Amino acid sequence: VTPDATSRPVLIMIRRAVAAAAPSGPRFERLDPRSPQIGVLDLGITRGDGIFESIGVIGGVALELEPHLARLGRSAAMLDLPQLDIDTIRAAVHAAIDAHEPAPELLVKVFVTRGPEGNSTEGSGTPTAWVHAAEGPDYAAERTHGIRAVTLDRGYRRDVAVTSPWLLQGAKTLSYAVNRAALREAGRRGADDVVFLSSDGFALEGPASSLIIRNGARFRTPRLDSGVLAGTTQATVFRMLEGEGQTTEYSHITDSDLRRAANIWLASSGRLIVPVRALDGVEVPVDREMTARMLRGVAGVPFALPVGLERH
Ligand SMILES: Cc1ncc(COP(=O)(O)O)c(C=O)c1O
Repeated sequence: VTPDATSRPVLIMIRRAVAAAAPSGPRFERLDPRSPQIGVLDLGITRGDGIFESIGVIGGVALELEPHLARLGRSAAMLDLPQLDIDTIRAAVHAAIDAHEPAPELLVKVFVTRGPEGNSTEGSGTPTAWVHAAEGPDYAAERTHGIRAVTLDRGYRRDVAVTSPWLLQGAKTLSYAVNRAALREAGRRGADDVVFLSSDGFALEGPASSLIIRNGARFRTPRLDSGVLAGTTQATVFRMLEGEGQTTEYSHITDSDLRRAANIWLASSGRLIVPVRALDGVEVPVDREMTARMLRGVAGVPFALPVGLERH
């Protein structure tokens, strides 16, 4: 299959991702994403030792870019990576978007690994970093009709981030094999996605999304100290809801709060907002009107809603 010229991915390799790097040569360069760029002993590959961000782009505008860059910096600190040159990374993100053919929606990913193995098993001290921009999947059906989710035990208590920070809960690390395994388990159970529960029975997040529920008049998401990733999309939704005068709350959400929820949504940067239409096989009402408002709110720029939502 010949790749469509309008959806050709863009790769920008960042040569100076670290704040302390000596200023010589270009900060980043565009290279062919189809040719090999990363060494076989890069610790990002051999150990999943690194961090990333996925940034939604609508109509050429990167959504919540500053919160994404701030989270990348926090993840770097949690992994004891060198301090990143956020200005260079920001410029590389803009360069990738500018170099991509215009598209209604793009997904831009920023990766920073611990770098090549070098003389020490902890790495050479020079991270490998790159930005990749490509068109994402078409999420129209999920956004409109919702998804089926199952609850799965993550196996950690809700206070794991506080008691065991070395488990890196709350950092956006490259070690997503577990998250993908959970999604395959969801598939085996006839569902599309997962809501993780803590071992002590609290709802947490999806493998790649934040959880938002409506209990009565309140919109709730799990507390950010419960080992979840601080979601940029969820934060934007809460700002939008607060602007409407709605009540929002970061709190411990019990398994029964989740099952009693009037509505459930999963929020993430590429897929944006999807309603959950079934949880563990039990139907959950989908509020299309609210979903459409949330989608418009997170897009922040004129955005073509899927056909089934556009009249809302
Ligand atoms: C574990 C996890 N939680 C939440 C999110 C949602 O975060 P954001 O809205 O910033 O994409 C993600 C995003 O990929 C994630 O991987």
